[in-house]
Amino acid sequence: MPRPLVAITDISAMRFNLALARTMMPGARVWAVVKADAYGHGLGNAFKAFEHADGLSLVELNRAIMLRELGWQKPLMMMEGMFSFDEVDTFQRYQLQPVIHNQVQLDMLQHASGAPLHVHLKVNSGMNRLGFAPAEVQQANQRLQAMPVVSGISLLTHFANAENPSASLTPQRQLQRFTDCTEGITAELSLSNSAAVLLQSQIKCDWIRPGVMLYGGTPGAATAQSFGLKPAMTLQSELISVQQLQPGDSVGYGSVFTADKAMRIGIVACGYADGYPRHALTGTPILVNGVRTRVLGRVSMDMLSVDLSEVFDAEIGSKVILWGDGLPIDEVAAAAGTIGYELMCAVAPRVRRETRED
Ligand SMILES: Cc1ncc(COP(=O)(O)O)c(C=O)c1O
Repeated sequence: MPRPLVAITDISAMRFNLALARTMMPGARVWAVVKADAYGHGLGNAFKAFEHADGLSLVELNRAIMLRELGWQKPLMMMEGMFSFDEVDTFQRYQLQPVIHNQVQLDMLQHASGAPLHVHLKVNSGMNRLGFAPAEVQQANQRLQAMPVVSGISLLTHFANAENPSASLTPQRQLQRFTDCTEGITAELSLSNSAAVLLQSQIKCDWIRPGVMLYGGTPGAATAQSFGLKPAMTLQSELISVQQLQPGDSVGYGSVFTADKAMRIGIVACGYADGYPRHALTGTPILVNGVRTRVLGRVSMDMLSVDLSEVFDAEIGSKVILWGDGLPIDEVAAAAGTIGYELMCAVAPRVRRETRED
């Protein structure tokens, strides 16, 4: 009998969420974002679930090669492009489409020969992370146009605040900058991340780039459930011990929780070495036998404690849902001061994996 902790990826939910993204942006093609091992859901699972996506988008070269070896024949976009000249050859061999976001990458392509590549010219419209400044865009485009190794150019930019209507850098401001500096360039546009797909349907583009929504997480603003998204990951375990506390007894390292009444607590086989956030405080929601209760005290490396005061039938072996079915990952994340994205991506390699598909 293995340790009871398991992360279950629901391939049907991922498929469903992709279909939902399409209905929200009719006519747009979809780059399904699968970086970081498909946000922790397993690249092989994403390969199956997103077979109807128009392209997959990621940053890791070895994972792009893996997708080709699995049989993915549609476009692959490399969102950070090449990191060195040596990689150009691999991009050509596997027909990977680099995002070109700086002058160094332009120089790499300038010196390349061989099989032509489709490239994505990234515009920094205000995010100030990757991309050419508006004043550089026309020249970068002209350079790319003149390169024999470039067979086609698309344009992209990334929104900083599509989920936050009160931000001063709105998607509309970014879009205006983008439109102004790309004037006269005829190219396909890739703009919307999950937040823009879900909340900025007035933004039209040829390609959308949803990530977190495909996995049933919210980019913010409202719950994933309210958008009709289905959770694609359930982190599940069991109680491996039950303790009876008396008033004044404390729980775990640092004794940060002290009982003020007699109560039963359960010990769950899941800790921070599994990717559960150590900064989850007393009160973080968790399900035991389907009953919503709370984490108590400090999360330790392999275990955490839960309140069983209201879970009368709980015993060793009772099922625990840390997030997923019946408990949105974003609620757990919020209680731990983070976002669902981080929790999905952080499930540790030692956690057993299963998939579900109906
Ligand atoms: C350039 C780019 N496009 C799209 C995405 C997908 O974003 P989200 O997961 O919020 O949909 C990301 C995520 O980091 C990104 O960096």
